[in-house]
Amino acid sequence: MLSFMSITVTALHASARPGSNSKWLLDRAMERLDRAATLRRVEVDWHVRSVVDLDVQPCVGCDDCRTTGRCSIGDDMDGLYPLLRSSQVIIVASPIFFRGLPSSLKAVVDRCQCLWADRFLLGLAGPTAGRRGLVLLAGASRQDRDYQPAEGIMTAWFRSLGVSAHEVVRGQGLDREGEAAGRSDLVDRIDAAVSSLIEDVVSR
Ligand SMILES: Cc1cc2nc3c(=O)[nH]c(=O)nc-3n(C[C@H](O)[C@H](O)[C@H](O)COP(=O)(O)O)c2cc1C
Repeated sequence: MLSFMSITVTALHASARPGSNSKWLLDRAMERLDRAATLRRVEVDWHVRSVVDLDVQPCVGCDDCRTTGRCSIGDDMDGLYPLLRSSQVIIVASPIFFRGLPSSLKAVVDRCQCLWADRFLLGLAGPTAGRRGLVLLAGASRQDRDYQPAEGIMTAWFRSLGVSAHEVVRGQGLDREGEAAGRSDLVDRIDAAVSSLIEDVVSR
Protein backbone atom coordinates (compact mmCIF):
# COMPACT_ATOMS: atom_id res chain seq x y z
CA MET A 1 0.00 0.00 0.00
CA LEU A 2 1.25 3.53 -0.85
CA SER A 3 1.81 5.83 2.13
CA PHE A 4 0.89 9.49 1.72
CA MET A 5 2.20 12.44 3.69
CA SER A 6 -0.40 15.16 4.22
CA ILE A 7 0.07 18.93 4.07
CA THR A 8 -2.31 21.77 4.86
CA VAL A 9 -2.44 24.56 2.29
CA THR A 10 -4.30 27.83 2.87
CA ALA A 11 -5.01 30.02 -0.16
CA LEU A 12 -6.36 33.56 0.11
CA HIS A 13 -7.62 35.41 -2.93
CA ALA A 14 -8.48 39.06 -3.01
CA SER A 15 -10.35 39.95 -6.17
CA ALA A 16 -14.10 40.50 -6.31
CA ARG A 17 -14.48 40.63 -10.06
CA PRO A 18 -15.70 37.84 -12.33
CA GLY A 19 -12.95 36.74 -14.72
CA SER A 20 -10.36 37.77 -12.14
CA ASN A 21 -6.79 37.49 -13.39
CA SER A 22 -5.34 36.77 -9.96
CA LYS A 23 -7.95 34.05 -9.32
CA TRP A 24 -7.01 32.50 -12.66
CA LEU A 25 -3.39 32.41 -11.50
CA LEU A 26 -4.51 30.79 -8.24
CA ASP A 27 -6.57 28.15 -10.05
CA ARG A 28 -3.49 27.24 -12.15
CA ALA A 29 -1.31 27.10 -9.03
CA MET A 30 -3.81 24.82 -7.26
CA GLU A 31 -4.00 22.52 -10.27
CA ARG A 32 -0.19 22.36 -10.55
CA LEU A 33 0.30 21.92 -6.83
CA ASP A 34 -2.20 19.04 -6.73
CA ARG A 35 -0.38 17.39 -9.62
CA ALA A 36 3.12 17.92 -8.14
CA ALA A 37 1.90 16.69 -4.74
CA THR A 38 0.38 13.50 -6.15
CA LEU A 39 3.64 12.68 -7.95
CA ARG A 40 5.43 12.92 -4.60
CA ARG A 41 2.72 11.03 -2.69
CA VAL A 42 1.62 14.11 -0.81
CA GLU A 43 -2.04 14.62 0.07
CA VAL A 44 -3.19 18.26 0.09
CA ASP A 45 -5.76 19.52 2.58
CA TRP A 46 -6.96 22.74 0.91
CA HIS A 47 -8.44 25.76 2.70
CA VAL A 48 -9.37 28.40 0.13
CA ARG A 49 -10.84 31.72 1.25
CA SER A 50 -12.06 34.74 -0.71
CA VAL A 51 -11.09 37.65 1.52
CA VAL A 52 -13.71 39.95 -0.03
CA ASP A 53 -16.38 37.61 1.34
CA LEU A 54 -14.99 37.66 4.87
CA ASP A 55 -15.99 39.98 7.67
CA VAL A 56 -12.60 41.33 8.73
CA GLN A 57 -12.54 44.58 10.69
CA PRO A 58 -9.50 46.87 10.41
CA CYS A 59 -6.78 46.66 13.05
CA VAL A 60 -7.20 49.61 15.44
CA GLY A 61 -3.70 49.40 16.90
CA CYS A 62 -5.03 48.83 20.44
CA ASP A 63 -1.84 46.88 21.28
CA ASP A 64 -3.74 44.33 23.41
CA CYS A 65 -1.96 41.62 21.43
CA ARG A 66 1.42 42.81 22.72
CA THR A 67 0.58 41.28 26.09
CA THR A 68 -1.87 38.53 25.15
CA GLY A 69 -0.70 37.41 21.70
CA ARG A 70 -4.39 37.45 20.77
CA CYS A 71 -6.57 39.93 18.86
CA SER A 72 -9.42 41.50 20.86
CA ILE A 73 -11.67 41.90 17.82
CA GLY A 74 -14.03 39.00 17.11
CA ASP A 75 -14.87 38.34 13.44
CA ASP A 76 -13.92 36.00 10.57
CA MET A 77 -10.22 36.29 11.49
CA ASP A 78 -11.07 33.84 14.29
CA GLY A 79 -11.34 31.12 11.65
CA LEU A 80 -8.26 32.26 9.74
CA TYR A 81 -5.76 32.48 12.60
CA PRO A 82 -5.51 28.71 13.19
CA LEU A 83 -4.90 28.17 9.45
CA LEU A 84 -2.28 30.92 9.26
CA ARG A 85 -0.53 29.56 12.35
CA SER A 86 -0.33 25.99 11.15
CA SER A 87 -0.52 25.62 7.34
CA GLN A 88 2.66 24.30 5.75
CA VAL A 89 1.93 26.34 2.63
CA ILE A 90 0.20 29.72 2.37
CA ILE A 91 -0.74 31.12 -1.04
CA VAL A 92 -1.96 34.65 -1.69
CA ALA A 93 -3.47 35.68 -5.03
CA SER A 94 -4.15 39.38 -5.41
CA PRO A 95 -4.59 42.24 -7.84
CA ILE A 96 -2.31 45.25 -7.46
CA PHE A 97 -4.23 48.33 -6.28
CA PHE A 98 -2.28 51.60 -6.29
CA ARG A 99 0.96 49.59 -6.19
CA GLY A 100 -0.22 47.89 -3.01
CA LEU A 101 -2.80 45.35 -1.87
CA PRO A 102 -6.61 45.74 -1.99
CA SER A 103 -8.00 46.93 1.34
CA SER A 104 -9.78 43.61 2.04
CA LEU A 105 -6.46 41.76 1.96
CA LYS A 106 -4.55 44.52 3.75
CA ALA A 107 -7.08 44.25 6.60
CA VAL A 108 -6.20 40.55 6.95
CA VAL A 109 -2.49 41.40 6.90
CA ASP A 110 -2.84 44.12 9.55
CA ARG A 111 -4.89 41.86 11.79
CA CYS A 112 -1.93 39.49 11.92
CA GLN A 113 -0.11 41.89 14.23
CA CYS A 114 -1.09 39.47 17.01
CA LEU A 115 0.85 36.70 15.25
CA TRP A 116 3.85 39.03 15.05
CA ALA A 117 3.50 39.77 18.78
CA ASP A 118 3.16 36.06 19.52
CA ARG A 119 6.35 35.27 17.64
CA PHE A 120 8.63 38.25 18.20
CA LEU A 121 7.51 39.76 21.54
CA LEU A 122 6.14 36.84 23.50
CA GLY A 123 8.05 33.92 21.97
CA LEU A 124 4.92 31.77 22.00
CA ALA A 125 4.69 30.83 18.33
CA GLY A 126 5.26 27.26 17.17
CA PRO A 127 8.09 25.88 15.03
CA THR A 128 8.39 27.19 11.51
CA ALA A 129 10.65 24.71 9.72
CA GLY A 130 9.62 24.04 6.16
CA ARG A 131 6.70 26.45 5.96
CA ARG A 132 6.53 28.06 2.54
CA GLY A 133 4.61 30.86 0.82
CA LEU A 134 3.60 31.75 -2.71
CA VAL A 135 2.35 35.14 -3.90
CA LEU A 136 0.53 35.52 -7.22
CA LEU A 137 0.06 39.12 -8.30
CA ALA A 138 -1.94 40.54 -11.21
CA GLY A 139 -1.31 44.10 -12.30
CA ALA A 140 -1.74 46.20 -15.42
CA SER A 141 1.77 47.61 -15.20
CA ARG A 142 4.84 45.98 -16.72
CA GLN A 143 7.20 47.97 -14.47
CA ASP A 144 8.83 46.02 -11.61
CA ARG A 145 8.69 49.06 -9.33
CA ASP A 146 4.88 48.96 -9.40
CA TYR A 147 4.91 45.60 -7.62
CA GLN A 148 7.52 46.34 -4.96
CA PRO A 149 5.24 47.91 -2.30
CA ALA A 150 2.87 44.91 -2.38
CA GLU A 151 5.78 42.47 -2.35
CA GLY A 152 7.35 44.28 0.62
CA ILE A 153 4.13 43.92 2.61
CA MET A 154 3.92 40.22 1.73
CA THR A 155 7.51 39.67 2.89
CA ALA A 156 6.86 41.37 6.24
CA TRP A 157 3.62 39.41 6.65
CA PHE A 158 5.15 36.01 5.89
CA ARG A 159 8.00 36.64 8.34
CA SER A 160 5.44 37.55 11.02
CA LEU A 161 3.64 34.27 10.39
CA GLY A 162 6.88 32.30 10.58
CA VAL A 163 6.94 31.51 6.87
CA SER A 164 10.65 31.86 6.23
CA ALA A 165 10.67 31.59 2.44
CA HIS A 166 8.25 32.46 -0.30
CA GLU A 167 8.18 32.97 -4.04
CA VAL A 168 6.44 35.66 -6.04
CA VAL A 169 4.95 35.32 -9.51
CA ARG A 170 4.28 38.76 -10.98
CA GLY A 171 1.45 38.68 -13.48
CA GLN A 172 2.55 41.85 -15.26
CA GLY A 173 0.56 43.43 -18.07
CA LEU A 174 -2.79 42.00 -16.94
CA ASP A 175 -5.56 44.56 -16.90
CA ARG A 176 -8.92 43.57 -18.37
CA GLU A 177 -10.89 40.61 -17.04
CA GLY A 178 -9.75 37.23 -18.32
CA GLU A 179 -6.44 38.48 -19.75
CA ALA A 180 -4.42 35.99 -17.72
CA ALA A 181 -5.87 33.05 -19.68
CA GLY A 182 -3.46 32.16 -22.42
CA ARG A 183 -0.39 33.62 -20.70
CA SER A 184 1.70 30.46 -20.94
CA ASP A 185 4.74 32.34 -19.60
CA LEU A 186 2.91 32.74 -16.29
CA VAL A 187 1.83 29.10 -16.20
CA ASP A 188 5.48 28.09 -16.67
CA ARG A 189 6.56 30.35 -13.81
CA ILE A 190 3.79 29.03 -11.56
CA ASP A 191 4.86 25.49 -12.43
CA ALA A 192 8.47 26.21 -11.45
CA ALA A 193 7.47 27.97 -8.21
CA VAL A 194 5.08 25.18 -7.18
CA SER A 195 7.64 22.44 -7.93
CA SER A 196 10.33 24.02 -5.77
CA LEU A 197 7.78 24.72 -3.03
CA ILE A 198 6.68 21.06 -2.90
CA GLU A 199 10.31 19.90 -2.90
CA ASP A 200 11.06 22.18 0.06
CA VAL A 201 8.03 21.03 2.03
CA VAL A 202 8.62 17.33 1.36
CA SER A 203 12.34 17.46 2.19
CA ARG A 204 12.02 19.37 5.46
C1 LIG B 1 -8.54 50.48 -7.61
C2 LIG B 1 -7.57 49.92 -8.62
C3 LIG B 1 -6.24 50.30 -8.54
C4 LIG B 1 -5.30 49.75 -9.42
N1 LIG B 1 -4.00 50.11 -9.29
C5 LIG B 1 -3.08 49.50 -10.06
C6 LIG B 1 -1.69 49.82 -9.90
O1 LIG B 1 -1.29 50.63 -9.07
N2 LIG B 1 -0.80 49.17 -10.69
C7 LIG B 1 -1.20 48.26 -11.63
O2 LIG B 1 -0.33 47.69 -12.31
N3 LIG B 1 -2.50 47.94 -11.82
C8 LIG B 1 -3.44 48.54 -11.07
N4 LIG B 1 -4.78 48.23 -11.23
C9 LIG B 1 -5.18 47.23 -12.26
C10 LIG B 1 -5.38 45.83 -11.68
O3 LIG B 1 -4.33 45.45 -10.83
C11 LIG B 1 -5.48 44.82 -12.83
O4 LIG B 1 -6.63 45.12 -13.60
C12 LIG B 1 -5.53 43.37 -12.38
O5 LIG B 1 -5.48 42.53 -13.51
C13 LIG B 1 -6.78 43.07 -11.59
O6 LIG B 1 -6.70 41.76 -11.10
P1 LIG B 1 -8.03 40.88 -10.86
O7 LIG B 1 -8.60 40.59 -12.24
O8 LIG B 1 -7.57 39.64 -10.19
O9 LIG B 1 -8.96 41.68 -10.03
C14 LIG B 1 -5.73 48.80 -10.40
C15 LIG B 1 -7.09 48.47 -10.49
C16 LIG B 1 -8.01 49.03 -9.62
C17 LIG B 1 -9.47 48.63 -9.74
